[in-house]
Amino acid sequence: MARDVRFDYGGRVALVTGGATSLGAAIAQALHGAGAQVCIADVDAASGQALADSLNRARPRSAWFEATDVSDDASIARCIEALGSRHARLDVLVNNAVVYDDGGIGSARQTWLKGLGVNLVGGAQVLAQALELLAASPSPAVVNLSSVAGKFGQRGRAVYPACKAAILQLTRNQAVELAPRNIRVNAITPAWTWSAALARQAAGSRERADAIGARLHPLGRVGDLADVADAVLFLCSDAAAFITGVDLPVDGGFSALGPDQGHPPAHWWSA
Ligand SMILES: NC(=O)c1ccc[n+]([C@@H]2O[C@H](COP(=O)([O-])OP(=O)(O)OC[C@H]3O[C@@H](n4cnc5c(N)ncnc54)[C@H](O)[C@@H]3O)[C@@H](O)[C@H]2O)c1
Repeated sequence: MARDVRFDYGGRVALVTGGATSLGAAIAQALHGAGAQVCIADVDAASGQALADSLNRARPRSAWFEATDVSDDASIARCIEALGSRHARLDVLVNNAVVYDDGGIGSARQTWLKGLGVNLVGGAQVLAQALELLAASPSPAVVNLSSVAGKFGQRGRAVYPACKAAILQLTRNQAVELAPRNIRVNAITPAWTWSAALARQAAGSRERADAIGARLHPLGRVGDLADVADAVLFLCSDAAAFITGVDLPVDGGFSALGPDQGHPPAHWWSA
């Protein structure tokens, strides 16, 4: 759950792709907690419906699930049409859906196309299809989820980082093109975040994730879902009304570190 934030999303309509689980669910919950009507668009129907049901228990008729595959244009069209018939506008779009499939630089074409189709083209198509609904909002805002993996070289991965790097450029293009329509588009770059993916890697141990994460994140821990969700609330709020086309790192200082890991030359000469 997000912290006690100051943002008021009462009367606003939000769409979160990949919103059924993990980070997407935290973002959907945070927007809902701040008063928004939330559409959870995901391929995971069981988790998405369960989340919508729990949000509706907290506030009746405030959330709904749309079975949506962002790699399928017809599926996106059904989601946007349903959204339009409910609310006739969209105030907040969060492109969060992801697949992590990656075979590194030797990835098969199929792996490349799957990753690109969901992670990069998926969000691009959702935005393209939602444009008229966004334009009907008095203060529309879009957030695209990138990753620190898209900023630095890593061994053994290629598809996911390339998608996440491309998202940063796409965000700039979308921001510049849509600024005349007052639609703001920004990216968020999380580092290691205590999500389903990281919990799997850490065999469920947050303590272990923080111990290893402290070496990579100057703030001494991995990120929380709320760290990212709160950044979404900020970027989509009127407090960020003059911010578009940026990459907001929510990374505990990860991207401020260089290859020297924060040590001056003397450290390396004595190491
Ligand atoms: N977890 C991290 O540490 C971390 C770090 C940096 C960036 N991110 C970014 O945050 C976002 C969420 O990451 P996560 O770790 O929560 O992912 P996750 O794999 O836990 O969840 C992804 C969600 O997307 C949904 N999804 C998958 N394919 C889909 C499709 N074709 N159409 C619609 N929905 C689909 C899944 O069902 C799932 O609910 C991603 O964009 C990721 O790149 C995560």
